[in-house]
Amino acid sequence: MKYYINCRENYLGMMVLRLLVTGGAGFIGSNFIDYELAHDQNVEIVNLDALTYAGSTANNIQAAGNARYHFVHGSINNRELVDWLLKEFEIDHIVNFAAESHVDRSLKDPELFTKTNVLGTQVLLDAAYQANIQKFIQISTDEVYGTMPPGQSAKEDDPLYPSSPYAASKASADLLALAMVHTFGMPICITRSTNNFGPRQHHEKLLPMLIQNALRNRPLMLYGQGTDIRDWLYVKDNCAAIDLVLRHGQLGQTFNIGAHQEKSNNEVTALVQSELGFSDQLIHHVTERPGHDLRYSLDTTRIENQLHWKRQTDFKNGLKETIAWYRKHQR
Ligand SMILES: NC(=O)c1ccc[n+]([C@@H]2O[C@H](COP(=O)([O-])OP(=O)(O)OC[C@H]3O[C@@H](n4cnc5c(N)ncnc54)[C@H](O)[C@@H]3O)[C@@H](O)[C@H]2O)c1
Repeated sequence: MKYYINCRENYLGMMVLRLLVTGGAGFIGSNFIDYELAHDQNVEIVNLDALTYAGSTANNIQAAGNARYHFVHGSINNRELVDWLLKEFEIDHIVNFAAESHVDRSLKDPELFTKTNVLGTQVLLDAAYQANIQKFIQISTDEVYGTMPPGQSAKEDDPLYPSSPYAASKASADLLALAMVHTFGMPICITRSTNNFGPRQHHEKLLPMLIQNALRNRPLMLYGQGTDIRDWLYVKDNCAAIDLVLRHGQLGQTFNIGAHQEKSNNEVTALVQSELGFSDQLIHHVTERPGHDLRYSLDTTRIENQLHWKRQTDFKNGLKETIAWYRKHQR
């Protein structure tokens, strides 16, 4: 069964999709808002963001000038606010990006991760159920499957083995969403993507840290031997995949989104070095974080077969665009 959007008409008789994006002042959410506004002239977007250290309205400058975009400063944990928003803006679709997203921080303050990622998602799910939302997309991560041995890739229905408090909080939110599908037949899809990279990512994450420190001739810190492997997905390709899931993903299904560009942190560093030409002496290896996963890898057959999605951007081209963006937006 395929899902096709069934939206209201605007005053010109056109079908309008009224979309609540949470966490839209962050890295992926802000790129997704720009993607939607550019690709669908009939989408209206409300961005609900708490503007934590990771969110900034500077990420929404492009969207801010658009009459189809509205920003609301607030938390997904605030049920009263969420209820009001859904009613006031006649929301029919929700994409939940809002989260605490940094693994290192989750080791220091797991409670905050539980509060935002688990309880916040529960608030949104309950409110969406009560408001009869047509479709809810829960944005999740490859980290919920845990570390993958060489040669293996996780499928959507594989068991979840999260290692960090961050991954455990995301897995918990997924399970809550799936329980709403199972119990109440709620119209939900989950996306689990690999490591995103691209413009607007917070400087605490690996690639922005490498690029920004290299541009300023500062030390580059790599965990352990630099041998951890991640699959690198350009953020705009992820936005295109989420858009397909939003519009055509079968209700109740989970979709892995991966780029098949697995690289160790050492390889990523070498590729940044070949673009920016810094000295090896800037690279320092620091103690590995506890409980780290060696490798993430996803089987993406479902999204490729069902929704005909494939990544468009290879790592080198995405890296060039990312570096160009950070050059322009140096801190
Ligand atoms: N970055 C990645 O590589 C990656 C990969 C897979 C999945 N994800 C998931 O994608 C989503 C977005 O990730 P990101 O990298 O853009 O994160 P980010 O940290 O850049 O942005 C998170 C946004 O959520 C907002 N936020 C935090 N708590 C909130 C709350 N209580 N209410 C409303 N807004 C709140 C923040 O202000 C920020 O704007 C997250 O759910 C993350 O788990 C990220």
